[in-house]
Amino acid sequence: MTKVFSGIRPSGKLHLGNYLGAIKNWLALSEAEGIEQAIFAVVDYHGITTPFDPKKYHEQVMDVVLDYLAAGVDPDKALLIRQSKVPQHTELAWIFNTITPVSWLDRLPTYKEQLAKSPKYNHMGLLDYPVLMAADILVYKSNLVPVGEDQMPHIDLTNEIGKKFNSMFGETFEPVKAHMAPGARIMSLKDPLKKMSKTSDEGIALSDSPVEIKKKIMSATTDSGKEVLYDEQKKPGISNLMEIYALLDPKIKNLKQIETMYAGKSYAEFKADLAEVVIETLKPFQMKYNELKADPGHVIEILERSEERARKLSSATLNEVKKKIGLE
Ligand code: AMP
Ligand code: TRP
Repeated sequence: MTKVFSGIRPSGKLHLGNYLGAIKNWLALSEAEGIEQAIFAVVDYHGITTPFDPKKYHEQVMDVVLDYLAAGVDPDKALLIRQSKVPQHTELAWIFNTITPVSWLDRLPTYKEQLAKSPKYNHMGLLDYPVLMAADILVYKSNLVPVGEDQMPHIDLTNEIGKKFNSMFGETFEPVKAHMAPGARIMSLKDPLKKMSKTSDEGIALSDSPVEIKKKIMSATTDSGKEVLYDEQKKPGISNLMEIYALLDPKIKNLKQIETMYAGKSYAEFKADLAEVVIETLKPFQMKYNELKADPGHVIEILERSEERARKLSSATLNEVKKKIGLE
């Protein structure tokens, strides 16, 4: 039986890259056959391992919750939780800390990259980040984890920790598999060689207004030449926009079709149409987002219901673990 778990850090508003590269994939997974359990978390304890503003943090967490729900996560099919409300994650992480050699952690590329970005944030939490991630996954005995490619070292580590626990205390955890989104890697509108990310204004947030969307797309960096042709190497700007178009408009079957539609037309004409496609796609999302925002009681109720269930599910694993160690 397949049990799905994934998490997203509340480090800013979700953008088109998060939607196409992650959430769309989660939705498909949580509705697929043979899925016994799907849990999506806002990993707010992970979020405090890198610089953040405590005055804005609570709102940021709730904003990601709204984004998830508005993007279509169905609370009847998947649990939607805040990590810090299910203390079993951090409890299991502590136990895992006692069996994880430091040398497994300080060699990880994600740790080195984060440290290079914010050298003052060289604390235990940053080093320990992947152990908490392993606990997030294994505390539910999840076995399928939809994530981007950059998270592969963390999935490998999760398996190493699971194996080590099994060998020390007896068979408990099964292997975990990553599930990658098919091909989606959305690039920044300003610099198409960089990934679209939450921390800059070079992406399209799911909550951007039609005016903002139009402005951002019309001023997106495009390449020299003026034909709408797909060439990732030579024309990364227009190619990225074409990919967004193809992923969002169900009428588009392949990139060739876009080339034919815009043969002899300008970048500006293509961009204006793309802006319309993005605006139309995000309309239902934004309506739902505004509805949810106006009814915070309803959102809290969804979270609390999910979190209560999550505490039950995770306690079962934690109790089994504690027994095996001799804590109970
Ligand atoms: P992050 O925003 O880095 O916390 O990532 C959250 C999820 O969105 C991860 O599964 C990423 O792989 C995915 N993601 C983030 N940025 C992009 C992007 N530009 N294109 C596709 N997927 C992305
Ligand atoms: N580290 C993941 C990221 O940066 C977020 C995350 C935390 C996660 N815990 C998880 C993802 C558990 C999947 C499963 O994207």
